[in-house]
Amino acid sequence: MARLVVVSNRVTPISGRQAASAGGLAVGVLAALRDSGGLWFGWSGEIIETARGDDAGVPPARVFRTGKVTYGLIDLPEAEYEGFYAGFANRTLWPLFHYRLDLTSFEHPWYATYRKVNQRFAEALRPLLKPDDVIWIHDYHLIPLATELRRAGCENRMGFFLHIPFPAPEIYTSLPWHRQLAADLCNYDVLGFQTATDVRQFNNYVELEINGRADRKGSVQALGRNLHVDAYPIGIDVDDVTEMAVSPEARRQAARLGSSLANRQLIIGVDRLDYTKGIVERLRAFEMLLKANAVLRRQVTFVQISAPSRELVPEYLELRQQVELLSGHINGLYSEADWVPLRYINRSFTRRTLMGFFRLSRVGLVTPLRDGMNLVAMEYVAAQNADDPGVLVISRFAGCAQQLDGALVVNPYDVHHVADTLQAGLGMTLDERQDRWQRMMQAIRKNDIITWRDRFLARLENRVGVG
Ligand code: G6P
Repeated sequence: MARLVVVSNRVTPISGRQAASAGGLAVGVLAALRDSGGLWFGWSGEIIETARGDDAGVPPARVFRTGKVTYGLIDLPEAEYEGFYAGFANRTLWPLFHYRLDLTSFEHPWYATYRKVNQRFAEALRPLLKPDDVIWIHDYHLIPLATELRRAGCENRMGFFLHIPFPAPEIYTSLPWHRQLAADLCNYDVLGFQTATDVRQFNNYVELEINGRADRKGSVQALGRNLHVDAYPIGIDVDDVTEMAVSPEARRQAARLGSSLANRQLIIGVDRLDYTKGIVERLRAFEMLLKANAVLRRQVTFVQISAPSRELVPEYLELRQQVELLSGHINGLYSEADWVPLRYINRSFTRRTLMGFFRLSRVGLVTPLRDGMNLVAMEYVAAQNADDPGVLVISRFAGCAQQLDGALVVNPYDVHHVADTLQAGLGMTLDERQDRWQRMMQAIRKNDIITWRDRFLARLENRVGVG
């Protein structure tokens, strides 16, 4: 069997104990690599100062092995980190692909650095590659990597998986470099998206803008290339999460939280502190719930855990201030001497602790304004106790809403509706909770992380020749 080489910007070379801030990609990729083994290549997370502020003196990848996985990590010089990660990836592509044109900056120098860093990834990875390796590249940071690797003479099969949404052509074409990045995407042999909606948006773009053709079986011809384009919805390692939720650490931390609740029902939200997650709207919905239902006051506690993320990006700082202001406002308005409605926590917890919190809660509130898949929602389901499961409230704009038909689906912008749905979740009978939970468990088991990996790799490995 060919060796699997995974490339992503974020690499988490630690076994099961990642924090909430890790994000779905690192958790998913680690689970996918754990048993098959292979090479995981990416950014070390380190920023180095170089003598002249350019790329002089940047060392080659550091290579080491942990269990079955070999890691190859590169550092980034400060100027490159700025333009590539804090700039083009997270202030251009991230907001744009999440439909936030209002937060998108179009800086030409960032784009130049983005391409340069992709070239650097290709240069550092090239010497570590064997001819029959299968290369699986992940997420928006690395769209041009196949182009750069092919330019460096690499003929391996290459697949790309986009963890975030692919936007409608009307949004995507506002990117001044939409054609270049589309050409980069067409340089892969297999292109994977989270949902059928993302595939449709990409295919629409191909047909409308670059004169390509897409058929119903997933074959796309564009810019002189043939590639396979399909939806490969990512999943979770269900048993791993179930075990974590009853681990001693989870039980200890849940008992601590539980005793502080004094029999009140717990609503929980857990996300990176990111404007795509709909945290402000979620807090407003909670405020609406308290405003409209005096009887619920003192009966519920909402714990919102927002792990710090991308703190050097100004839009994230603004969001933090907004959330702090709003949570102060809600608590100021509704707290009593012996009850605080909202506990807003701006730090990360281990995943074991979070799974324990999920299991304790009555409602999991996952209401992103736009999200590729959202693995937290699936983890919420897997962490529940079959005898007394909690209710998942999910945004219709999260990719996983298309699979989780046992969840209560909401429009996160409609805070009145979210408040009503929260109320319904808090009052739901045990029978209905169990019925809904079983349906969701079936869905997440059917489409777990291994299915995701195997489906994608089967397609990538079966390809004959390069289009
Ligand atoms: C999302 C992205 C990932 C990213 C993660 C954490 O899940 O799809 O590519 O790694 O967020 O963000 P960060 O900027 O810390 O890597």
